[in-house]
Amino acid sequence: MKKIILSIIALSASPVLFAQNAAEANIGEGYYDIILWILIAIAVIVLIITFSLLNSINELKNKIAGDSGSEHAKLSLWEKLLSLKPLTMEKDMDMGHEYDGIRELNNSVPIWFNVLFYGLIVTGIVYLFTYHVFNIMPLQAQEYKNEMAAAQIQKEAYLKTSGNAIDENTVKQITDVAKLEGGKKIFVERCQVCHGEHAEGKVGPNLTDEFWIHGGTINAIFKTIKEGVPAKGMVSWKNVLKPDEMQLMASYVLSLQGTKPANPKDPQGDKMVSDTTKIQIDSLVKK
Ligand code: HEC
Repeated sequence: MKKIILSIIALSASPVLFAQNAAEANIGEGYYDIILWILIAIAVIVLIITFSLLNSINELKNKIAGDSGSEHAKLSLWEKLLSLKPLTMEKDMDMGHEYDGIRELNNSVPIWFNVLFYGLIVTGIVYLFTYHVFNIMPLQAQEYKNEMAAAQIQKEAYLKTSGNAIDENTVKQITDVAKLEGGKKIFVERCQVCHGEHAEGKVGPNLTDEFWIHGGTINAIFKTIKEGVPAKGMVSWKNVLKPDEMQLMASYVLSLQGTKPANPKDPQGDKMVSDTTKIQIDSLVKK
């Protein structure tokens, strides 16, 4: 009996321990499996304890009933499991109800049924605590959300790599002002040192005029940014920026056309009307 009480206490305490661990360690998906197996192990242990408890109760009953035990000892495990009684005991079990020669016997509930019955109650309690009280495991709706979030991350990762398909032949000008704002950030970080705060030109040429050394089309600018002009001090950016970032930078450079910053560097290269779609983002440069 002590054993049983102890195991019941252990069982009810285990979800509490899990909950504490979960809170402390902020457990991730991988730990759910381990917890599940631990819970299954606990359930099995509880079943075994229930089983042996029922067995000893039966023995006790037999003793009280004055059973010699000799017949009991002959029962096979199978008969025990089904709580089968030998025919010789039939008259002891007769309840005195008889209809048309059919007599009612006071057969006890088979052990397997009890194990199932109490096992399900225990499982229910474990389930309740796991899913609804301590929220150790996610409910179906939450699991769905988690999977969708994971899929979204995968999708974004895929889109990032598929952005690698952009090159100087396929590049298209970005005209989305919000995206070009991102381009301005990269410009300030990486290009400003040589091209000036407003791209008016310093070591590198003025990028706001209509004069281009290496061509003023989106494709040509993309290529200049990608390959650089190492001999003249223009960095090759292909190992630093991702293709979609280089596309953004080429688009940003084109968006600066005609912004006329103060103190422009003298024109370099040939005058050519670039194929830029004029975008009104003066704010980007004047800020
Ligand atoms: C270390 C200095 C330096 C940095 C940093 C730099 N550039 Fe340049 N850039 C130059 C120089 C120098 C040239 C001129 C190359 C030449 O004379 O052929 C140039 C040329 C260019 C051209 C071609 C201009 C033309 O007239 O054809 C573009 C476009 C350009 N840079 C964009 C960028 C962008 C975008 C960045 C930032 C991602 C950047 N550059 C960063 C030095 C730099």
